[in-house]
Amino acid sequence: MSDSTNAHAPLPASWHDGTVVVHAGLPARTHGSAYLPGPTFAAPYHTPGDPADSPFTYGRFHNPTWHAYEQALEALEGGPAVLFPSGMSASAALLGTVMRPGQKVVMPSDSYYTTRLIATDYFAAHGVEVVSAPTANEAQRALLDGARLLWLESPTNPELDVCDIRALSDAAHAVGALVAVDNTTATVLGQRPLALGADFAVVSDTKAMTGHADVVLGHVACKDPVWADAVRTYRTRMGCIPGPMEVWLAHRSLGTLSVRLTRQCASALEVATYLASHAKVQRVRYPGLPGDASYATASRQMTLYGPVIGFELADRAAAERFFAATRIVSEATSFGGIHTSAERRARWGADAVGEGFIRLSIGVEDVRDVLADFAVALAAV
Ligand SMILES: Cc1ncc(COP(=O)(O)O)c(C=O)c1O
Repeated sequence: MSDSTNAHAPLPASWHDGTVVVHAGLPARTHGSAYLPGPTFAAPYHTPGDPADSPFTYGRFHNPTWHAYEQALEALEGGPAVLFPSGMSASAALLGTVMRPGQKVVMPSDSYYTTRLIATDYFAAHGVEVVSAPTANEAQRALLDGARLLWLESPTNPELDVCDIRALSDAAHAVGALVAVDNTTATVLGQRPLALGADFAVVSDTKAMTGHADVVLGHVACKDPVWADAVRTYRTRMGCIPGPMEVWLAHRSLGTLSVRLTRQCASALEVATYLASHAKVQRVRYPGLPGDASYATASRQMTLYGPVIGFELADRAAAERFFAATRIVSEATSFGGIHTSAERRARWGADAVGEGFIRLSIGVEDVRDVLADFAVALAAV
């Protein structure tokens, strides 16, 4: 497919993330053109004669709106990216592309729970050997022998454990295994899995990447363009394609990613520090908190520690009193967005966390108001 999106030349290598997110994937600045042209809604495209002569032929194969955002993601991730209609769809597509019956995948036992479920309920049922170990202390390393793929998630959702991506990638590559990192919690601005040695970054763009609680989307970034072609072929054949409107919204939101995330992470550190000193809080997890079990590794491989905090109140009733008293925190099951939100994670019954454990995501509100709100809500606990 030729490039008919009129994308500009590669961005200067000296540009920092805050500049790249604003300009990545935008078309050339021609007279009268929009900064970011609107979404292209098309099933078939005019394709007379030899289809090889048409840049776009059919909506399941390609779309200029996807192409523009994928170029933006490539500029950030450091390898070609393939979009999917959700983070789970991206994870399933990568597993479906890489894994074959009889091969072994090493998973985290403490990852986002649906990732664990698709491995055990679908891929294992189709003959893939699924073995798992906790993320902390590189426990997965012991299982690598004979593996085809090592799947990492760092920081994990919801406990925020961190593993050394470079060390584990080296260990996996030494036994011939590929490495995928679910980078949803950190995003590419927080850590770069491909630069740290992984072969794939898998991301739910539903979270901080888009950040406005209005889009479900995902992507796979690949170090090797050959793998990107294979993942794209999987998408084309399986038909797991994103809607152009969602992708356009994601690209529009990308321009503010650095501004949003920098503020969210600075506020998250303040809130985590406050929670750690509060008498009604039993424990706090935040990779950027000196003293946290994740801090040593996180401070080596992350440039931003993310917007997500875990904290534990005495029990379910205490957590419910917290939610009843807060005016700022939305009780909702996502993270990374501009609105501060949280949930009592045990309500889903899928994670090994206490009944009073709350996964909190700090938004872009003024942190003074967030801290004041927490003081009131915790007083009511
Ligand atoms: C770490 C992680 N990976 C993947 C996903 C799946 O993303 P989506 O909901 O976009 O399918 C989630 C969703 O919460 C997540 O937290």
